[in-house]
Amino acid sequence: MTAVTARAHTNIALVKYWGKADTELMLPQTSSLSLTLDQFYTDTTVSFDDSLTSDDVVINDQRLAPAASVKVSHVLDLVRQQSGETRFAHVASMNHVPTSAGLASSASAFAALAGAASRAAGLNQSRTELSRLARRGSGSATRSIFGGFVKWQAGTDDASSVAIPIQEDVTWPIAMVALVLDPHHKKVSSTQGMQSSVTTSPYYPAWKQVVAEDLAAITPAILAQDFTTTGEILEANAMRMHALTLSANPPYSYFNGETLAAIATVQALRDSGIACYYTLDAGPNLKVFCQEKDLGAVTTRLASQFSADQVIVAHPGPGIAFL
Ligand code: DP6
Repeated sequence: MTAVTARAHTNIALVKYWGKADTELMLPQTSSLSLTLDQFYTDTTVSFDDSLTSDDVVINDQRLAPAASVKVSHVLDLVRQQSGETRFAHVASMNHVPTSAGLASSASAFAALAGAASRAAGLNQSRTELSRLARRGSGSATRSIFGGFVKWQAGTDDASSVAIPIQEDVTWPIAMVALVLDPHHKKVSSTQGMQSSVTTSPYYPAWKQVVAEDLAAITPAILAQDFTTTGEILEANAMRMHALTLSANPPYSYFNGETLAAIATVQALRDSGIACYYTLDAGPNLKVFCQEKDLGAVTTRLASQFSADQVIVAHPGPGIAFL
């Protein structure tokens, strides 16, 4: 019984994934692009054991009921199919976040699971193959296999829907400041939210066009370390994603009462000459993109308006590692 431990970091999408084209294969409607972050990661240990009669999944020292571990077992089933391994597995996973920030994400979790399970089953898969496997657990996990700036190429089938590193070793002095407004779990899951946007928002066709344009423009901006262009694109892209929730039927929003105040703070910082831009995922918390030279000004302002323990500074982080 060989135990393998993998560590994967979470990522923040700069051009969002918001919609599936194939829910079984987890093929997205569009490509997307993210930055892997150093501060938030998951360590997962997997070992196959012939004394087990079902998969045994423990997350942050809490054992999951079988019904709650369906997605984990789904990824393990794929590994069993690919490797010929027939045993069930022990899975022990720890999410590392600086505070109880609610920022632990399915991206780092399923990327670490894919890596650990694949190796524990004796597969010697490339990172491209691991990104394909991680995708089957959660779409955003596809990108967390790689570090730095990463594109998830939508593809047209299982083989072609994989992550591609754009730039793994980031020398650009930038930061992503997380502002935690609500540490609790989201009320509408990403899976449900994006499905509702795809099927009911009249703006969905326009979103696909927006993503194509944003990807084409942001990639050269990142490589040229063009902060303003990158920031403007990521902020507009996030708001256009959230417009899909407001325009769904029934409409919903991930914003809470403080989200708009936090957005206004970022805009005020910018008006005062501190260049910074915000993005939000499927929740009320902001991530503020800024330059290292402005980090002090940004964190001071956010901590004075909110509180210091709601502000977490992250930088570009690495891809999957085996411990
Ligand atoms: C807003 O990857 O959590 O963070 O594939 O259904 O597991 P599933 O969804 P998930 O959705 C991520 C949505 C997002 C944007 C992004 O990360 O690209």
